[in-house]
Formats: sequence, C-alpha cells, structure tokens
Amino acid sequence: MNTKVSVIEDLHLDKKYIHEAAEIIKSGGVVAFPTETVYGLGADALNEEAVKKIFIAKGRPQDNPLIIHVCDKDVSLLVNDIPTVARKMMENFWPGPLTIILNKKDIIPSVTSAGLCTIGIRMPANDIALKLIELSGKPIAAPSANISGRPSPTDIERCVQDLNGKVDYILGGEKSNVGVESTIVDCTIDPPCILRPGGITLEMLREIDDKIYIDPAIMTTPSENLKPKAPGMKYRHYAPKAKVTIVEGNLQKTIEKINEIVQNYIEKDLRVGIIATEETKELYKAGEIISLGSRKELYAVAKNLFETLRAFDDLNVDVILSESFEEEGVGIAIMNRLRKAAGFDIIKV
Ligand code: TXA
Ligand code: MG
Repeated sequence: MNTKVSVIEDLHLDKKYIHEAAEIIKSGGVVAFPTETVYGLGADALNEEAVKKIFIAKGRPQDNPLIIHVCDKDVSLLVNDIPTVARKMMENFWPGPLTIILNKKDIIPSVTSAGLCTIGIRMPANDIALKLIELSGKPIAAPSANISGRPSPTDIERCVQDLNGKVDYILGGEKSNVGVESTIVDCTIDPPCILRPGGITLEMLREIDDKIYIDPAIMTTPSENLKPKAPGMKYRHYAPKAKVTIVEGNLQKTIEKINEIVQNYIEKDLRVGIIATEETKELYKAGEIISLGSRKELYAVAKNLFETLRAFDDLNVDVILSESFEEEGVGIAIMNRLRKAAGFDIIKV
C-alpha cells in the first residue's frame, strides 16, 4: 500500500492536508494522526470494514477494544446513561488525556468495542486531531499508532517507522506533549475505576469523586485471580526489543545495583542501556545512558519515556536497566508503563 505522509507545520497554511486525511476517513481508510498523548491510528468508528483495517495494520488482537475520539462534549449519539460524574469529568478534563468508559449504543459496531457493551470515548487536546474529526464528520476510533506490543509513537518518525506501507495516510504534527496514553476511567460502575493511569491523575479525578480507585490488577504481575479490567492491559506491552529490568527502591542503592549488573553484562559481551535521570546520569560507570529528565519534573519524564525505549532499540542494546519513580501523580502512569515494558521483571533494593 502506498502511504502518503504530510507534516502540518502551520495549522492554517497546511490545512489542505487535514482535508485530505479527512476525506480518507470518510471513505473508509486509515489515517495516523497526532494527539497530545501519543499518535493515534484512526478510522471511522462506525464503519466496521474501516475499523477492521486498523486491527490488521497494527497486528492487534481482536479482543482489544478501541477508543473513540470526538471533537464535541455531546456524546449522546454514541452512548447511553451518562452519569453525572462522567459529565463532570468531561467538563473538567476534556479536551484532554482522559478516556471515559460508558455503555455504548448499537450504532457502534461490535468490532470497535471488541464485542463489549461498553466503549471508551475521549476528546483529545490537539488542534490537528480535533480538526480531523470535525472535517471528517465521524467519530474516529484510534488505538496508538504503533505495531501491537511496541512502545507507542510520540512523533511522526516513529509512526512512519511502524506503519509506512500499512496505512493510507500519516499526518504529522508536533511531538506528543503528554507522552503516555490517556487515563482510562470506567464510569459504568460506581465508584468509577481507573483502568489505565495517565496524564489525568488519580488525585485530579478524586476532586470529582473521592472514592475513585485504581484497578488493583494493573500495577502487579497479572495472575489468574487478579486480571486487569481493560483487555489491553493484560498483554506484554510498550516493549522495546531489548529485555528490560527495573530496579526499585532507595535511589543510592539503585545506582549501586545498576552499576553492579552492568558490569556483569559487559563481561558477557552484552550491550547495556541505562534509563537514568538528570540527577543520576553522571553516576553510572558504563553502558549507554539516556536521561529521561529531572526527577522533579515527572511530566517531562513521561513525555520522554516511550521515545527513550525506542532510542535504545536504535542503539541495538541487548538489555535495558531502569531506575524507578515515585508512584504519585503522573509517576503512577510512568511506573505502570515501565513495569509492563519490563514484563514485571523487577529487582527490589
Ligand atoms: O491516549 C490514548 O488513549 C491513545 C490516543 C491515540 O488517543 N489511544 C490509545 O489506544 O492508547 P489503545 O488502543 O492503544 O489503548 C486502548 C486501551 C486498551 O488497553 C483497551 O483494552 C482499553 O483501552 N479499552 C478500550 N475500550 C475499553 C472498554 N470498553 N472497556 C475496558 N477497556 C477498554
Ligand atoms: Mg496502544
């Protein structure tokens, strides 16, 4: 398949590209586009054949439902029973990195919701994405624009790397600002439950309902009696090619432990990557070291996380060792993605 790639530098001057992409959505094609969280791979959410193309392009398991992207807070055409708490979330956090799960209407084909009677909806905080949805006149179903299992792309180069030749159009814009996928909150139950942590934090959501909680299954190794509620959270995910191990605990001890393990690997002729921070990057003695940013700026750390995992693939490292982060605010999302990238291979110090 021939993939057209266009980059929007100026929303007004380059609007014709958004028009082109919107035409493709209307005619049942598949378009990668920027959002504030990660790039998405979109198709008309109400067109079964179009949605199937997303699953094929990504190699995505069919039991993993898609999120529908809208450009308006009125979602009454798509869902039933919108509880007050969900309306408040839309008022407070849309457009923004929050996906709300609600009971779907029949108009949404079951391939989009992977057979569930619920659907996730979000209004992205990105002008290109909003314009694309508006011009196409369709709700757009879009998972992250990566090959299934790989770290989500936060810029157009990574989309092209994964999807060139597999989709109709790749629309580029700025680098994604949040860098991890949206927070998903299930509002079909009371109190609502966070199925995936993201840029809208537990603390922010508790301002709306102080009983909101995080699905206990998502921060530990999935097991028979503790399965994540979001189908997509059960897969090994966000994973670079190299094997990832996280060292968790006291920071000083973490650095010592990583230095010790790196030495062992180097003796075995393995190439090692270290995920470090501004505060620690000078303290490692060997290995390819990439800093995610300062520990005081967890939003910047989140923004750089997936790109760093992919950069280590480019460096062809065999193993990656990572520091850990405080599980507070967006730190919960960072640790969730890191642990999944590591397949829960964690060393405690
Ligand atoms: O930030 C984001 O949400 C990005 C951008 C492109 O908007 N999209 C994204 O989509 O991360 P995806 O497909 O990579 O992740 C969607 C997640 C999956 O874990 C899926 O299982 C879960 O949302 N999900 C979707 N619909 C659901 C539902 N009805 N019930 C439970 N989980 C659902
Ligand atoms: Mg994804």
